Amino acid sequence: MRVGVLTGGGDCPGLNAVIRGVVRKAEREHGDEVIGFFDGYQGLLENRSMPLTIESCRGILPRGGTIIGTTRMTPYMVENGVEKVKATMAATGVDALIVIGGEGTLSCANRLMEDGIPVVGVPKTIDNDVGGTEMTFGFDTAVQIATDAIDRLHTTAESHNRVMVVEVMGRHVGHIATWAGIAGGATATLVPEEPFDIAAVCDSLKRRHEKGRFASIVVVAEGALPAEGTLEIPEPAVDEYGHQRLGGIVNVVASEIESRTGFETRVTVLGHVQRGGTPTAFDRVLSTWYGVEAMDAAHDGDFGTMVALRNGEVVRAPLAECIAELKYTHPNLLAAMRTFSS
Ligand code: F6P
Repeated sequence: MRVGVLTGGGDCPGLNAVIRGVVRKAEREHGDEVIGFFDGYQGLLENRSMPLTIESCRGILPRGGTIIGTTRMTPYMVENGVEKVKATMAATGVDALIVIGGEGTLSCANRLMEDGIPVVGVPKTIDNDVGGTEMTFGFDTAVQIATDAIDRLHTTAESHNRVMVVEVMGRHVGHIATWAGIAGGATATLVPEEPFDIAAVCDSLKRRHEKGRFASIVVVAEGALPAEGTLEIPEPAVDEYGHQRLGGIVNVVASEIESRTGFETRVTVLGHVQRGGTPTAFDRVLSTWYGVEAMDAAHDGDFGTMVALRNGEVVRAPLAECIAELKYTHPNLLAAMRTFSS
């Protein structure tokens, strides 16, 4: 058979490792062929692709980004998009698609499945918010990068007796903030799951500093929101795909902390640094396992599935169920995190 692979949405460490896993399994064990569509669904709409072989994928395992490019375009954003996809698949002789993406890309894959296109999904995102799986690849890398940054901020915060407010990614959920906040010993961590009260945050900082500590780290997920009526946050801009451009809430939080507590406060926005560069060993393994299992599912004709990590094993799960709900941070982990706030 011939399989088409695409990567959609924001990039993420481990995308190339998934591609390599798919290709190795296809070529070496099934005698199947793989082609990669460029720039997510856009390449599928415009019939732009490249053959992917063991040879052409050499050396990509540790490489960040995606060798086939990515966008947030979907076939449902253009007229006759599904027909265009079917035409490309017929022209390239592609029997099925392996779609590697987050909630937006995978929801679209599920619609394509309903429209008669055979699809297998692979869950990607540093945010770790895709349902049905214990972990998306890329998350472990992002947490490590954020934790390393927080470790570095501790020493400069202590030297200057400052509050350092660090913004991490996390659009709908606070997985990165929670994990990096715990791992980095943050004083307070603000996540989208629980609207925050800036007055309570400032009180906790004051309590801590009264006890003789004069430096603090506050981690803020980009999607964190204040409790209603407590703080004005500017409306985020929207990109060409209708996707909100988050980032910047940290400035409001930091300036409130400084004016309410009198403590000198500085801001660090980690932004795309969390998404760039080489995947951790864990993400390389998870991505490889996902890629190999996705290719097996495609070869078996097990379409409408998503590969998922469950109980430490990569299995196939119904795609429609996985995209039905986002995966939020476990309330017990949030509670454990609060044990460490002042
Ligand atoms: O897709 C995950 C994510 O990393 C979000 O946390 C973030 O809001 C978004 O991507 C930003 O992506 P971009 O800058 O590419 O629009």
